[in-house]
Amino acid sequence: MHKRRVAILISGRGSNMAALIEAAKAKDFPAQIVLVASNIAGAGGLAIAAANGIETLTVESKPFGADREAFERAMHRELEARNIELICLAGFLRLLTPWFVTQWEGRMLNIHPALLPSYRGLHTHERALADGVKIHGATVHFVVTEVDSGPIVIQGAVAVRPGDTAQTLADRVLQVEHRIYPAALRLVASGHITSGRGAVAADTDDVFISPRLD
Ligand code: GAR
Repeated sequence: MHKRRVAILISGRGSNMAALIEAAKAKDFPAQIVLVASNIAGAGGLAIAAANGIETLTVESKPFGADREAFERAMHRELEARNIELICLAGFLRLLTPWFVTQWEGRMLNIHPALLPSYRGLHTHERALADGVKIHGATVHFVVTEVDSGPIVIQGAVAVRPGDTAQTLADRVLQVEHRIYPAALRLVASGHITSGRGAVAADTDDVFISPRLD
């Protein structure tokens, strides 16, 4: 089996990155994590990746200032040099230009802490709580030029509990993120889903009602 060559792009602590690295240790996993790259020097996830024997790289975005594309071209060169086939954005806090997105069209995934298309952008948990939604969650999707849009690969939901704060809700959603991102990468790397073909039909009749009915 050819394991697809994956780069994970991070900016911070890298807990989703760590979940992907763990999953990719399975013998039958269709992808290998060959690079973890950060735009922030000293991002916490870099040390975790290095401890797992994965090559790490920092291409700082700061020196490029407002020239997003120049930063991306530098990052792109590094990815090409390693024959990267798929990118997973995992807490990569950088808006991407159409140029970069086009280079990786259909080959770049992102995880977003909300049930898209609800709550695009920042502060998703605060906004979900303010609206009083009863179900919240996370989404893995292909990256397109419009931010937090693009074909959805998988979603995971949690019940919003009375008394939840943005932090308690974020913690529960994060546990779901750590399950769905490896599952999404498995689906995409194995060719079971492509951005052109849309979502895989769910082979489940599960319903999730919140608050629970007695
Ligand atoms: C995750 O919750 C991810 O969904 C979110 O940042 C966190 C990164 O945590 N991403 C975004 O908000 C993207 N707009 P991690 O570094 O521990 O994976």
